[in-house]
Amino acid sequence: MTSDHRTSEYESPFQDTAVIAWLEAAGIDTSLPSPDRVYDAYLGGSHNTAIDRAFVDKVERILPSIKPLARSNRSFLRRAVQEAAASGITQFLDIGSGAPTVGNVHEIALKANPSAHVVYVDSNTIAVQTSQIRLEEQRVTDRVAMIQEDLRDPDGILDHPRTRALIDFDKPVCLLMVALLHFIGDEDKPAELIAHYRSRLAPGSKLALSHIASDEAPQEQKDQVAAFVDAYRNTTTRLHTRTKAEMERLFEGWELEEPGIVHPPDWRPDNPIDNDMSAYYLGWCGVGRKV
Ligand SMILES: C[S@@+](CC[C@H](N)C(=O)[O-])C[C@H]1O[C@@H](n2cnc3c(N)ncnc32)[C@H](O)[C@@H]1O
Repeated sequence: MTSDHRTSEYESPFQDTAVIAWLEAAGIDTSLPSPDRVYDAYLGGSHNTAIDRAFVDKVERILPSIKPLARSNRSFLRRAVQEAAASGITQFLDIGSGAPTVGNVHEIALKANPSAHVVYVDSNTIAVQTSQIRLEEQRVTDRVAMIQEDLRDPDGILDHPRTRALIDFDKPVCLLMVALLHFIGDEDKPAELIAHYRSRLAPGSKLALSHIASDEAPQEQKDQVAAFVDAYRNTTTRLHTRTKAEMERLFEGWELEEPGIVHPPDWRPDNPIDNDMSAYYLGWCGVGRKV
């Protein structure tokens, strides 16, 4: 069932019953909001519950453009995967993938090329559990894997048996770090981490990055983003914004593809829905190529 079938965004008892039953059968806790289901709710997906949506309400009071921001980010992810597939890449390594939601990388990649291989990576246990069950249900585990690893351990990801089984590192790979690096502080040296991944990839590989930002935003949105970051300060996850200049440093060693580092609606737009400008300034994104 998709969100289009709901009578109201916040009144979907039938869907909630089904989602909760599915999660509980899988042994997943439904008593607290879970980040992957909250993200699904931002995107208008159907894999979330009233508890998750109540959390979304709170976030929207702090950052009113959170839903358009999530959607324009997800739309960038789709276009980046489609463009990589159109350029002949058949292998995708999606770090910080989250759980299955609206527009999943493997669905986009397999539609473009049914023999594509995808490895999803996330550090969050619930996202990993949920993804593994969904992939088994879809009977795609011969081509698609979900592993629980941390971006900050590149060799743990690149040398994982499931990664080695599905990805041939002598051929180009599309490495996705979409809406991920704002969880990584400068103390974890993100540019060095990316350089490490690059050193293990074949020429022709691509890197797709997107990041929350506010450096060009009007003051009112700058203040909202600051309050959003502040709200995360009291959690186990810290959030970091980065400027366009900082994004350029993350792409050092990669040849930036057109149109460079831009706000998400400006990266090769193909659908008017990307033109929701309310979150325009709140992200940076780009795709680089290893030459
Ligand atoms: C906002 S979601 C992005 C999902 C998807 N990439 C997208 O853009 O639509 C960010 C994901 O990154 C994961 N994450 C955060 N820190 C991570 C880390 N150090 N290593 C791996 N995953 C991480 C979170 O668990 C979450 O599922």
